[in-house]
Amino acid sequence: MHILRTPQELSQTADVCRVNGQSVAMVPTMGALHQGHTSLIDLARQHADIVVATIFVNPLQFNNSVDFDKYPLQMDHDVQLLEQHGVQFLYAPNVDAMYGANFSTSVHVGGITDVLEGSSRPGHFAGVSTVVAKLFSAARPDVAIFGQKDFQQFAVIQRMVSDLDMPIQLIMAPTIREPDGLAMSSRNIRLSDLARHEAVAIWQGLRKAQEQFSAGIRDSDQLIKTVESMIESTSADIDYVKVIDPVTLNGLSIATPGCVIVVAVVLDEVRLIDNHVLV
Ligand code: PAF
Repeated sequence: MHILRTPQELSQTADVCRVNGQSVAMVPTMGALHQGHTSLIDLARQHADIVVATIFVNPLQFNNSVDFDKYPLQMDHDVQLLEQHGVQFLYAPNVDAMYGANFSTSVHVGGITDVLEGSSRPGHFAGVSTVVAKLFSAARPDVAIFGQKDFQQFAVIQRMVSDLDMPIQLIMAPTIREPDGLAMSSRNIRLSDLARHEAVAIWQGLRKAQEQFSAGIRDSDQLIKTVESMIESTSADIDYVKVIDPVTLNGLSIATPGCVIVVAVVLDEVRLIDNHVLV
């Protein structure tokens, strides 16, 4: 695997691939890789000849400096994992290479960034869309893969790609879960043993809501209460539980197949998010 450090190296490498007739898939990450990420890589390999993974802990998307400082870094482990999964190129710039002197551009997607994670984490999505726009602009990949766990992030990037006419196919990969159902996340390792044990209530709540939906319940408030009461039996603080439309992200009072229950909690000072598409 070749490691690239500057946007110029990334851009030239992607150009060479294209000249050779090879399609390029990009998997943007912030490192601390786990099975959730490797599932994105495996999916990327099915969609393109060349996989470019990126690792960059993006300071612009952290509205909380403690969260940024505590973000786990495991570069050696990550490089090994990416090699095992057949990644040909890793783009791992430092902050200076990503944001040069006097950097002053921000990509702001309106509307859908005002709710959910956007209202709890001001500036977060401008940070995400700015860095992803820079990655896309340097590499111009054919395909890019993101996980379903960050459902709103996917919707925001999809909006940006469509609004800015970026010819990139986005693929949403399913959430990978621990055996007990907790969605895999780089933040999970910050949970105490007790909090890790309690965190499974999020998935249990979502599963119970799906059972009720399958039994014919359509009232969103009832489904939300089900998820909330499961989480309230733990020490987690609920930020939101909502039933939303998958494209507009607007809250729905009546749940329909394909709509999404989204959850955010803070447990042991760690923010955890999850979601489930009702079927
Ligand atoms: O999902 C992430 O890990 C990040 O938000 C991303 C997309 C790599 C942008 O920094």
